[in-house]
Amino acid sequence: MAKDKQSKQRIIFSGMKPTGRLHLGNLEGALRNWVSLQDEWKMYCGIVDLHALTTAYESPDELRGDIFDMAVNWMAAGLDPERTTFIIQSKVPAHAELHLLLSMLTPISWLERVPTYKEVREELHITSPSYGFLGYPVLQAADILIYLANAVPVGKDQAPHIELTREIARRFNHLYGDLFPEPDTLLNEVPVLPGIDGRKMSKSYGNTIYMSDEPEEIRQKVSQMFTDPQKIRRGDPGRPDTCPVFAYQAVYGPQDMEWARTGCESGDLGCVEHKRKLADQMVEAMEPIRQKRAELLRRPEQVWEILESGSKKAIEVTSQTLALVRKAMSL
Ligand code: TRP
Repeated sequence: MAKDKQSKQRIIFSGMKPTGRLHLGNLEGALRNWVSLQDEWKMYCGIVDLHALTTAYESPDELRGDIFDMAVNWMAAGLDPERTTFIIQSKVPAHAELHLLLSMLTPISWLERVPTYKEVREELHITSPSYGFLGYPVLQAADILIYLANAVPVGKDQAPHIELTREIARRFNHLYGDLFPEPDTLLNEVPVLPGIDGRKMSKSYGNTIYMSDEPEEIRQKVSQMFTDPQKIRRGDPGRPDTCPVFAYQAVYGPQDMEWARTGCESGDLGCVEHKRKLADQMVEAMEPIRQKRAELLRRPEQVWEILESGSKKAIEVTSQTLALVRKAMSL
């Protein structure tokens, strides 16, 4: 039976849009979590290129490079293609077909209520949103439901999409019989890393530290990080809670948090010295990833091959679900 909440095999689907290189926010906010989940769950991780097209449809030629970079970074971070199935969304047509079928039973009003619909439109100045853009969360629901996933690990901003996925699953099950599990949201506990200017980390703000940055670039960017504007020179007391350097300290050197906090508040620790020490810790933490990346970049065919074979495997799994869906809908 497809739906079985007591089933031993717990399934996760998660995805990332291949729009630009991955940064430390992606690594610490999502990837590390995926890596730890793969021990206990059957994981499908999707490079969701069709989702990327909802906003980047004018420059599809950039997708190929971003897809490759994403796969390299996933593996460099420790996602293991032997255990986790890597897929390219557009190579697994069942995502698109289920999206179409689910779109028939999803009221437009549900989609207009999703907070990201307004937020992304404003952020990217989209004046005339496309049909596909409005349907973004339906495609995401299809991504998840086509694997009969039980859970989805995401950040807070994505929680409404998973909630909508549950609503769509419920509506489908009500109309055509119990087929889809209602997936749980596995909220990521990791604090979000801000950009080096303290705003949200985003390539459009130019405030990112990339997973592919060399040690020198990391040091350079850390040295440019914004700090408490009231702390102008060493000796001035600072406010750690408002300082981006401390957000990084918590992730890359939690053992030195007390030392840094006391020093900053008393004024004994200057920002320059603090940043230098933090940069060392970050470079060291990134070293294994840097080495693994370099290794993978030496054999790009192997990276493509992993995406190819993962997608093939996903085609098998998803066509079984699709057959059940078609049957349930009398198609
Ligand atoms: N919308 C997600 C994001 O922007 C990406 C995504 C697409 C996704 N499909 C998914 C995430 C399915 C989890 C599950 O981050």
